[in-house]
Amino acid sequence: MANSTNSGSTIDTGATRGSWGTRVGFILAATGSAIGLGNIWKFPYITGVYGGGAFVLVYLVCVVIVGLPLMVAELMIGRRSKKNPVGAFRALHAPNTPWQATGWLGVLSGFVILSFYSVVAGWAMAYIFKSIAGFSGTAEQIQAEYTALVAHPTASIIWHTVFMVLCIGIVIGGVRYGIERWSKILMPTLFLILVGLMGYGLLYTDGGAESLNFLFKPNFHKLSAEAALSALGHAFFTLSLGMGAMLTYGSYMRRDESITRDAIAVSALDTIIALIAGIAIYSLVFSFNMDPAAGPGLIFQTLPVLFAETGPWVSVPFFVLLTFAALTSGISLLEVVVAYFIDERRWSRTKATLILGGSIWAFGLLSAIAAITIPFRGKDQGFFDVFDFISTNYMLPVGGLLTCLFAAWVMKRADKIAEFGSKGIIFQGLIFFLRFVTPLAVLIVLLHGLELLPFMDYSK
Ligand code: PHE
Repeated sequence: MANSTNSGSTIDTGATRGSWGTRVGFILAATGSAIGLGNIWKFPYITGVYGGGAFVLVYLVCVVIVGLPLMVAELMIGRRSKKNPVGAFRALHAPNTPWQATGWLGVLSGFVILSFYSVVAGWAMAYIFKSIAGFSGTAEQIQAEYTALVAHPTASIIWHTVFMVLCIGIVIGGVRYGIERWSKILMPTLFLILVGLMGYGLLYTDGGAESLNFLFKPNFHKLSAEAALSALGHAFFTLSLGMGAMLTYGSYMRRDESITRDAIAVSALDTIIALIAGIAIYSLVFSFNMDPAAGPGLIFQTLPVLFAETGPWVSVPFFVLLTFAALTSGISLLEVVVAYFIDERRWSRTKATLILGGSIWAFGLLSAIAAITIPFRGKDQGFFDVFDFISTNYMLPVGGLLTCLFAAWVMKRADKIAEFGSKGIIFQGLIFFLRFVTPLAVLIVLLHGLELLPFMDYSK
């Protein structure tokens, strides 16, 4: 029964391409991809580093002018072609043109990003168990636990392995019976936990008001060019753009759904969740008079010190939340790579998931073992930092720029109209953004990543 049909769409049996069962299923899976460590770990800490309100405002503007048009573009390319990123660019244009390279870059980005993403996700899981045991000791001792975990290869490898096994287990089940089914369980749980934590922050700590002030009262003299550029870069990492994740998820979408409406829903949910996570985390941080600008250690070092006071009722749900968020993003990264091997190499889903999941796991060992370093940008760095830097600053922006240019200038107008569903004023507006505004914004992020912007000082 490789090709049995159900209400007009193909059932995912592994031998054929999958499709989402319902619109809600697609929205949950796509929001699941978008909402991840980017929202709960990265957004709160970079907001802290860049001083709060004004940064948040710029980030919101970036989501609208860069994120939203690019998401619509990826969904259009995906659904039109019904292919993985490599096949999609090939199908919508003459075969064997350089545009295919955009797809290749996407598949490679999925591979590289998942390899280190899984390591951080592993730490989140380790912290569920640390939370159950309870945090105790002095602030220094609690913070040192994180440094010890990162430096301890066996622990990092074990958790990285557990996370990859979970991703593989879900993706092997296919689009509908793996990704969609699990997103329907994990995402509502994640919403509930997060709303609960925000309620706790606002009602039971005395940092609630300060946290709202910090996040929503723009303080423009704290806004640097560096902050604005980070906001822009973060906007498309958090929306899973620039590597074909949304493109691939779009390829399983049904014809009768509105791409614009869904893209708005996914971007809005992603943004709201980041803000709620910010409120929950900063209420705690301010109620204990801690430093909001602690940087990447905010979640794993600052919060546990506070959790020692609040107890496991707050910390266990928090790290479960982080793990669920990472898992629904991890499966989307794996799916991009797996979809390529299923579509283009005709592998079965089981074979593709096991072989590629296994390879990403093995590659991830480089990031899990902090002691392995290479010289990069003038100093010895672990692979974790190197891959994080290269993918966020180079791979995603290049992928995003090419995708945007393809959708704007190369993809046939008739194809775009067919997917978009109209050629009215909103469509015209979208095309204008995709042609001029979005590529310019992405180009600026990219040049900044390459330290080539003329008005910035890169000497530090
Ligand atoms: N959007 C995810 C997050 O915020 C990360 C991600 C990037 C997932 C690219 C898929 C593709 O954590």
